[in-house]
Amino acid sequence: MSAEVSNPLFARLFHHLCGRDRGQGERELRIELLADARGKVVEVGAGNGISFEHYRATVTELIAVEPEPYLRRQAVEAAAAAPVPVRVLDGTAAATGLPTAAADVVVVCGVLCTVPDQAAALRELRRVLRRGGELRFYEHVRSRRPGFARWQTRIDGLWSRTMGGCHTDRDTVAAIVDAGFIVERCRGFPFPAGARIYPVAPRVLGIACNP
Ligand SMILES: C[S@@+](CC[C@H](N)C(=O)[O-])C[C@H]1O[C@@H](n2cnc3c(N)ncnc32)[C@H](O)[C@@H]1O
Repeated sequence: MSAEVSNPLFARLFHHLCGRDRGQGERELRIELLADARGKVVEVGAGNGISFEHYRATVTELIAVEPEPYLRRQAVEAAAAAPVPVRVLDGTAAATGLPTAAADVVVVCGVLCTVPDQAAALRELRRVLRRGGELRFYEHVRSRRPGFARWQTRIDGLWSRTMGGCHTDRDTVAAIVDAGFIVERCRGFPFPAGARIYPVAPRVLGIACNP
């Protein structure tokens, strides 16, 4: 289904370098993202399954959608050790292959920066969410400081080519609102704290409702 997402080199780099808790607060942010998630959860772009350990017993089933074959294999391994039942599926954010209104919660963590078409992805995530369900997001975004945003745009082409299609300068919260979600909670912050020129430092973490 998602043969177009194959980044073997980036996937291995990501798994060994970025897709790990390096003690800088990544773990706490994932815990905050998933706190009190309940019911049937769909995590899209689940990577190597780094977040699985943070789901709690209030989650009855986790469906993890991951298009990249190497990362999907890592996710299957992580699923075996997860505290909740996990099914790992092939699919993309714009084509999950899941039924309409299948989820109480949809989770995206570092994914809306990479999808080729944010509007198409968010349309699909909204379709998969039941009415009143939650989109939980933790994403890096375009800075609200114009000078920094210009720097993000300047570096975007190079960054995207080397970082598996990730874009530095997307206004993801605006895209979530444009897709028809209602943002209930959202906080912005730099990560790592104090980062000065890191183009993916501006972050947002929040919950949007499917009205
Ligand atoms: C930066 S990684 C984040 C992985 C994981 N969510 C995490 O928190 O570590 C981006 C993930 O999005 C996946 N991805 C890339 N294109 C995608 C698409 N079109 N739809 C869904 N996921 C995609 C990548 O394979 C990768 O697993």
